[in-house]
Amino acid sequence: MSRICVVTGASSGIGRAVSIELAGRGCTLVLGGRNLERLDETAAKCRGLGVVVETAAGDVSTLGHATLLFDKAIRLWESGGEMPGVGASISHVITEIGASTPRARPRLAAVFAAGSAYFGPTLELPDDTWAETVGTNLTGLFYCCREAARSMAGRGGGRIVNVLSIAAVHPFPQSAAYVATKYGGLGLTRSLSSEFRKDHLHFTAFLPGSVDTPLWDRTGTSLDRSKMLAAEDVARAIADIVCSDDLGAFDEVHYMPPEGIL
Ligand SMILES: NC(=O)c1ccc[n+]([C@@H]2O[C@H](COP(=O)([O-])OP(=O)(O)OC[C@H]3O[C@@H](n4cnc5c(N)ncnc54)[C@H](OP(=O)(O)O)[C@@H]3O)[C@@H](O)[C@H]2O)c1
Repeated sequence: MSRICVVTGASSGIGRAVSIELAGRGCTLVLGGRNLERLDETAAKCRGLGVVVETAAGDVSTLGHATLLFDKAIRLWESGGEMPGVGASISHVITEIGASTPRARPRLAAVFAAGSAYFGPTLELPDDTWAETVGTNLTGLFYCCREAARSMAGRGGGRIVNVLSIAAVHPFPQSAAYVATKYGGLGLTRSLSSEFRKDHLHFTAFLPGSVDTPLWDRTGTSLDRSKMLAAEDVARAIADIVCSDDLGAFDEVHYMPPEGIL
């Protein structure tokens, strides 16, 4: 069954790799990120793989951004995964002349990979960095999940993958804001999972270990990046969940580098 998938954090790292992987599997995409230029780069790569892609630049911690993303996804869903106004009218004409029955509606899905990280001594953690981390990793994730639930319940349900971190169960030092928001993200995901299971909404808490992405360019690390997971490997694992037609729910997935926690 085809998918229409909303991906946040699509302008970089894991979100970008997931977008490209899903495009390679034929998914229609709605991509979010703050940096429009980098978001457009991802969109161009995905379109190059032959799928329909829409974008919406914005901040997930802003009320309304998640609504914008899912409004676009719903419009695509209503038109069967084609560009609104193009595919919809073609399938209408085909149905009218009786040459074909309307195609089955695609499934809605979402991968929430927008996230920010700060690592350093807690006594030097700036207040605005704490607020930004909570705003993106927790409040933003909540807004996105709520909008996903609103959009998918009554439209056949779907899979939602929340990209958290192994820091959601492993309290690294000098990572207070990051760890707190990832623990919170896990609680949020588990709670939503139990609330919306009856509506055929399957939330996955996806907990990767270290992944070699631009996140580490900004935060700095003494870790050996060659031992980290590749974003493309993580993307394949996430796409396997998103595209699974099985009935089973992937409640919590730990996806680690071969050497485990680095
Ligand atoms: N890299 C790792 O080792 C690792 C391990 C475990 C979990 N994770 C998690 O995986 C997720 C993606 O991380 P990554 O490694 O791919 O990092 P990344 O390369 O820095 O990408 C982060 C993405 O999140 C977006 N973003 C950040 N704040 C946002 C906001 N307020 N609103 C909207 N978009 C926002 C960025 O958009 P712009 O660039 O446009 O601002 C970017 O697309 C994060 O949740 C991170 O915690 C990463």
